[in-house]
Amino acid sequence: MKQLKRTKISEALKLNTFGKEINVKGWVRTRRGNKNVSFVALNDGSTIQNIQIVIDNEKFGESFLKPITTGACINVNGLLVESQGQGQSVEIQAAEIEIFGTADPASYPLQKKGHSLEFLREIAYLRPRTNTFGAVFRIRHHMAYAIHKYFNDRGFYYFHTPLITASDAEGAGAMFEVTTLDLNNPPRTEDGKIDYSQDFFGRQTNLTVSGQLEGELGAMALGAIYTFGPTFRAENSNTPRHLAEFWMIEPEVAFNDINDNMDLAEDFLKYLIRYALDNCREDIEFLAKMYDNELIDRLNFVVDNNFIRLTYAEGIKILEESGEKFEFPVHWGTDLQSEHERYLVEKHFKCPVILTDYPKEIKSFYMKQNDDGKTVRAMDVLFPKIGEIIGGSEREADYDKLMNRVKELGMNAEPIWWYIETRKFGTAPHAGFGLGFERLMLFVTGMTNIRDVIPFPRTPNNAEF
Ligand code: 4AD
Ligand code: MG
Repeated sequence: MKQLKRTKISEALKLNTFGKEINVKGWVRTRRGNKNVSFVALNDGSTIQNIQIVIDNEKFGESFLKPITTGACINVNGLLVESQGQGQSVEIQAAEIEIFGTADPASYPLQKKGHSLEFLREIAYLRPRTNTFGAVFRIRHHMAYAIHKYFNDRGFYYFHTPLITASDAEGAGAMFEVTTLDLNNPPRTEDGKIDYSQDFFGRQTNLTVSGQLEGELGAMALGAIYTFGPTFRAENSNTPRHLAEFWMIEPEVAFNDINDNMDLAEDFLKYLIRYALDNCREDIEFLAKMYDNELIDRLNFVVDNNFIRLTYAEGIKILEESGEKFEFPVHWGTDLQSEHERYLVEKHFKCPVILTDYPKEIKSFYMKQNDDGKTVRAMDVLFPKIGEIIGGSEREADYDKLMNRVKELGMNAEPIWWYIETRKFGTAPHAGFGLGFERLMLFVTGMTNIRDVIPFPRTPNNAEF
């Protein structure tokens, strides 16, 4: 076969150098035709669109062409020509074909169109080859890039926080332990407890639930940082919005207060959604057509409108007076459930909402305490269809107040002694938040299950692939 430089299908579809020979490589989506001619729809992941390969059956012979079926991978040299058919502008008249890999129609699982999302989850190793997941994962890439671009353009530093830690940042307790001890026969102390001093790190460790505590140390030196990495939560919540392994973006900014924090969160989300509309148009339009015809309107709405800001107490009042029957009763002091958050956003305000000043009992120890003695300077950003997309706060910068809260909660201060000490060494007001990357992806793609916006989801009872 003649050696030609490969042209990606996304580029080939834009060419108008008709009559010139080009090379494309990709996976066969479909093959149809008649006795004389075959039409192969070829996709290489560079775009949701396929390029049509036109094959003269006689030229290649039936037995050579037979294994070119759905899922097979081929290498094609051919003439770029203007397409006669509808729906595409160019096609390739095959001159030479090499078959890289066949895909036996009797066993290749992605035969017919329109598999259910549930079935595709079971074959997550192949689902990136579908239009839907190709679109979702291309958008995921562009969103990750946009996050780095947003912060880089604004002077934030990408700060790498550890994945293995000895602290429980959120105090949520839902952690995965990391150990090299023999679980069948762990060493024990005299009083019968597991002897972690003999473990790899000489102490008990776990996978991080958040990079925030270390992120704060970065902000107190570099001014403005962000983290962007995997976080792990062993909460046994089998919901369409929770993963055991999810990616989180956590900016942290010295000298910001809660209002600066809200401004940053709103600007950041709008930037990302606008970026998706500007750079992922084709894939978003496909997803809108297939799954959610209000998707693009919803994205535009968020970009174009100010988020509503109100306190938790005001939110509770609206919920109590709504006359709505909620599954979980709601009054001052209760943690808001998804149904409450979505009532405020979708029914009452019909707009993204930022709730602030939550009761301290339902929020983490590190949040700045308000003068009322009851609430803290927390903020949650609530989105249509999603509920909580961002959680954050201004941080408690006062050593005594922070220590009091740690004691009040009966927390073990030892694993976070270094965090508390920063309040003694040049403490300063600062604030930050965490954006759940997959929650953002749900919003931008219109998908409804978080398992469908990450290539290989980790959820209770599922760590396949
Ligand atoms: O509200 P969370 O627990 O806040 C923190 O972890 C803080 N340390 C953030 C900070 O202030 N730096 O989590 C932040 C966000 C949530 O709003 C949600 O979008 C997402 O992370 N999230 C999850 N996403 C998927 N699966 C889960 N199990 C999630 N838990 C939280
Ligand atoms: Mg939260």
